[in-house]
Amino acid sequence: MTDPARRLAPVVRVAPAKVNLTLAVLGARPDGYHELHSVMVPTGLADRLSVAVLPPGGQDRLHVDGFDPGPAADNLVLRAIAAARRAAREAGSGPDAPPPLAARLEKRIPVAAGLAGGSSDAAAAVDAALEAWGVEVGQETRHAIAAQLGSDVPFFLVGGPALAEGRGERLTPLAWLRDAAGWPDRPGMLLITPALTLSTPAVFRAWDAGARATGGAARLASAHLADELRRGMLTSDMLLARASVLASANDLAPAAVAVEPALVPFKRALLRLLGRPVGMSGSGPSYWALYASRAEAQEAATRLRSAVASGELVAPGSRQPFIEATTITSPAPESQP
Ligand code: C5P
Repeated sequence: MTDPARRLAPVVRVAPAKVNLTLAVLGARPDGYHELHSVMVPTGLADRLSVAVLPPGGQDRLHVDGFDPGPAADNLVLRAIAAARRAAREAGSGPDAPPPLAARLEKRIPVAAGLAGGSSDAAAAVDAALEAWGVEVGQETRHAIAAQLGSDVPFFLVGGPALAEGRGERLTPLAWLRDAAGWPDRPGMLLITPALTLSTPAVFRAWDAGARATGGAARLASAHLADELRRGMLTSDMLLARASVLASANDLAPAAVAVEPALVPFKRALLRLLGRPVGMSGSGPSYWALYASRAEAQEAATRLRSAVASGELVAPGSRQPFIEATTITSPAPESQP
């Protein structure tokens, strides 16, 4: 049980974006989902969610700054709070009627971009709501709530790199990347998101319709990376050396391109300007490139932004692309062995 005095202050959570370093689609399932094998990592790009308890009787509220997540009623944050309330009632460890909450979301992660920002917000909202009410529920219940909210949501309960299987809800925690001396490391990552939304179901439908690579290379690359990370021996240098294999290990990339053909020349331009492998995250349209450090990714971001400004890089979409230098993030590298 949380100290009741603490509940008066808003509960704050950081909700990181994820990137799929690999994404193999193993097949369609009878329930409409697809069986996946994907190595996912959290990044330093994050939304910020704060949740405060309101007087009893009213409704949950959500205020959003930054990227527009679409109609607030559809926002996964409100659905996550509602799901947490149901679980809180069943757990019976907090107040009988968990009071309404006022949530504020600072949205820095582009929406419908393949970075799972909405799913991360949802995982953060469940956690923040339960803390605000002083309710404790077990890991299994948290996982069940998360899986019910969306296939990508349970990943954010892990708090680090993970292998996602099943429809994404079966997770095996993996080790953080290491530097040459064996300490947890944060390699740089450049994220580029054209200002167009790609519907995940539409991309999976294109995969069903045959827009896919043959040969199983993504599955092999994914299994190999998961294995190396599981053993805890992978350094950032080794990851960078594998960037080319990883960048082509996304089975949804051909499907995303079938839905949005303008991504083909855009990716070609990115490859030319960055001079290094460029991969797609999730069902797109976000692209990533790996760097030894955030500073190097930042230099590349500056180059890309000026290429956009000069018209050398033309991005599809309604606005200029989102370009961000960040890292594959570990929570507190200096405090880990
Ligand atoms: O689970 P979530 O609601 O995020 O999934 C959105 C849609 O993406 C699903 O309705 C389905 O069309 C597709 N999907 C899939 N296979 C997965 C995950 C998502 O086909 N493993």
